[in-house]
Amino acid sequence: MTRTVYVNGEYLPEHEATVSIFDRGFLMADGVYEVTSVLDGKLIDFDGHYARLERSLGELDMANPTTHEDLLEVHRELVRANGIEEGMVYLQVTRGNPGDRDFAFPPEDTAQTLVLFTQSKPGLANSPAAKTGIKVISIEDQRWARRDIKTVQLLAPSLGKMAAKRAGADDAWMVEDGHVTEGTSNNAYIVKDGAIITRGLSNDILHGITRAAVLRFAAEAQMQVVERLFTIDEAKEADEAFVTSASTFVMPVVSIDGAAIGTGEPGPVAKRLREIYLEESMKAAI
Ligand code: PDD
Repeated sequence: MTRTVYVNGEYLPEHEATVSIFDRGFLMADGVYEVTSVLDGKLIDFDGHYARLERSLGELDMANPTTHEDLLEVHRELVRANGIEEGMVYLQVTRGNPGDRDFAFPPEDTAQTLVLFTQSKPGLANSPAAKTGIKVISIEDQRWARRDIKTVQLLAPSLGKMAAKRAGADDAWMVEDGHVTEGTSNNAYIVKDGAIITRGLSNDILHGITRAAVLRFAAEAQMQVVERLFTIDEAKEADEAFVTSASTFVMPVVSIDGAAIGTGEPGPVAKRLREIYLEESMKAAI
């Protein structure tokens, strides 16, 4: 089946969808994105992703080319047209095509680019990786200083993922000034003596929508949550570690730089949080 994608108001077969070579997203990474997961054919935390999209656009003085209602409709139509049961909807907004290359922003009436497509991932909720856990390496965080804005500048995370692959691992945790910021495409956590420890929100990390939900569920389940800095050495001594994102939900981490975390198997806190997250977010899915 040919995938149906959305470009600037049109639903098209993927091979017919085009964007200009002058698009600011292509030339300058002048664009923001969101990834919303789909379970049971329904969108997980759409409102959270929409709110963050509005924030990212605002921080970059970029207009919002759409509305909550219209965007929800496009998400649902793509999920329907592509028969997505489990997977993701990717959304990207750029400052559009000014017809040439120029560092200055284009005139305000320049049409923006809005692109959405689906990714089918059967078995996402039941992923084998969640049963075995993933291995991470640590790398220096080479990204810019506004990681709270979900821009499409993903070269540093992409290089990090490749470094992990070359090292026989699954992902990388990025480190700045001796402290873990986050994973290449997820938020990072350790668990020590029952406390869930994760870096607090600032411009240094993406404000994960899954993170917000998981911390809320953890507090509701009377688990202790501590938002503070932590190091790779502390992570190696932790009882458990895990990451969260829209594409992995809660994913146990079982080794860091080759050192086993705790028993070297997914821990009870990560397992429980994954169960709660999947159950609660599927109940609230739209
Ligand atoms: N990544 N941190 C970074 C750097 C991310 O890229 C992501 C998401 C997260 C988790 O955010 P959320 O819980 O809202 O998905 C944290 C998406 C999934 C991606 O780039 O594919």
